[in-house]
Amino acid sequence: MNLSLRIWRQKSRDEPGRFVDYAATGITGDMSFLEMLDVVNEGLIARGEEPVAFDHDCREGICGACGMMINGVAHGPLPGMAACQLHMRHYRDGDAITIEPWRARAFPVVRDLIVDRSAFDRVVQAGGFVSVNTGSAPEANLMPIPKPLAERAMDAAECIGCGACVAQCPNGAAQLFVAAKVSHLGLLPQGQPERFSRVARMVVAMEEEMFGSCTNYGECEAVCPKEISLDFIARLNRDYLKAKVRGA
Ligand code: SF4
Ligand code: FES
Repeated sequence: MNLSLRIWRQKSRDEPGRFVDYAATGITGDMSFLEMLDVVNEGLIARGEEPVAFDHDCREGICGACGMMINGVAHGPLPGMAACQLHMRHYRDGDAITIEPWRARAFPVVRDLIVDRSAFDRVVQAGGFVSVNTGSAPEANLMPIPKPLAERAMDAAECIGCGACVAQCPNGAAQLFVAAKVSHLGLLPQGQPERFSRVARMVVAMEEEMFGSCTNYGECEAVCPKEISLDFIARLNRDYLKAKVRGA
């Protein structure tokens, strides 16, 4: 199939960007969205033009590196799926696709479709860890954890840090990401000693990174490739309130 692409091109953070039209030809349904971009880039390189820069690594939905707005939707039209898992069989010959980088103040464009998501790293550095000595893997296995609790913590731990939640949120808020990180540690016994100081530090770091405020649009949950639930934001808010009451 042949497609008409409109792709955001921007040489660097400080230079203005613009949309450029490209034709993607000879695309098959078996190709992933990123493989379709690979084909476009091979054509650009063959013509001596700059390929389109985009982030990617695992290409199987587990690393969180890929991410782009596809026709205005973070990671594209299918729910519960990162852009690297989207296949071209979901498109038809002649379709027009607009591809942009994440649009959020806290994620400045580095080049073309690549944005700087180091703000997420700094929020995690503020408290997204456990400092207690949890021993080796066999010792950890000796600590019984109720199955529902382990499952709930795992639901939060699924977050791959892609940033789609921030990109889709009209406020550019990072609550779903922070809630996932706070919850997956705060639900487990090993995460209890720092539970309230962790949430206080991470929320402050989130505010310092200029993410917006959550006003319950729910767009984050709708585009999250791991379908992280909004319930975790409610849990984040409850723990933050408790942290303030305790003076953490
Ligand atoms: S909460 Fe979902 S959308 Fe946000 S960073 Fe984690 S995996 Fe990505
Ligand atoms: S490239 Fe790893 S999640 Fe898409």
